[in-house]
Amino acid sequence: SSKKQLKILLVLWTREDNENQDGKTDQLYFRLELLLQPSEHVVGVQLILLISYQLYRMSMLVMQSMALQCFSPVSGFQLYMNGHLKLNHRQLLNHCGLDTRYNVSVVNGTSLFSSDYDLTNIIAAYWDRYVATVFSDPNPVWMAGRAKDTPFIIKATIHYLVEVILYPLKTAYTVT
Ligand SMILES: *[C@@H]1O[C@H](CO)[C@@H](O)[C@H](O)[C@H]1NC(C)=O
Ligand SMILES: *[C@@H]1O[C@H](CO)[C@@H](O)[C@H](O)[C@H]1NC(C)=O
Repeated sequence: SSKKQLKILLVLWTREDNENQDGKTDQLYFRLELLLQPSEHVVGVQLILLISYQLYRMSMLVMQSMALQCFSPVSGFQLYMNGHLKLNHRQLLNHCGLDTRYNVSVVNGTSLFSSDYDLTNIIAAYWDRYVATVFSDPNPVWMAGRAKDTPFIIKATIHYLVEVILYPLKTAYTVT
């Protein structure tokens, strides 16, 4: 078979929204359109969406993390996901101070090694983190049967839920 250069046209669109009008963002809409030739078909998707995440209460946590992970070996023309962003921490967060240990890009964009751009390796390294965000309960829905000249579309709604985060107690006892 001959090698074919693949030209991909992407239209990417995101919007953050505050539905209950409390001034805090509570969801993110994500839409990606892949403009395909009539002869081209999407047989699976590997996608990550990267965000900058900050917590201000108690300690301040600043990190670069993932808002969406999706690995679907399914063919179709439209994928819709609706889930929520969750903070996973295998260690208690500091109760004060500034924590920037994960304020590094999830993808090392300066690396010369192709393995550093492999999504499987990126996700594996990400899961090694003590503190990370995950897209949870994505409930993916695929729609098949694309008409000619329609793009392949990925849509996602990511809800930011109120999180309960545990911090260590700083207690001082005076024994007399
Ligand atoms: C976190 O990283 C970003 C991107 O490198 C940088 O602009 C920002 O100043 C860093 N924030 C802190 C608090 O270190
Ligand atoms: C990124 O890749 C470069 C080149 O391989 C390496 O020198 C650097 O330490 C890497 N950075 C991180 C944060 O892993």
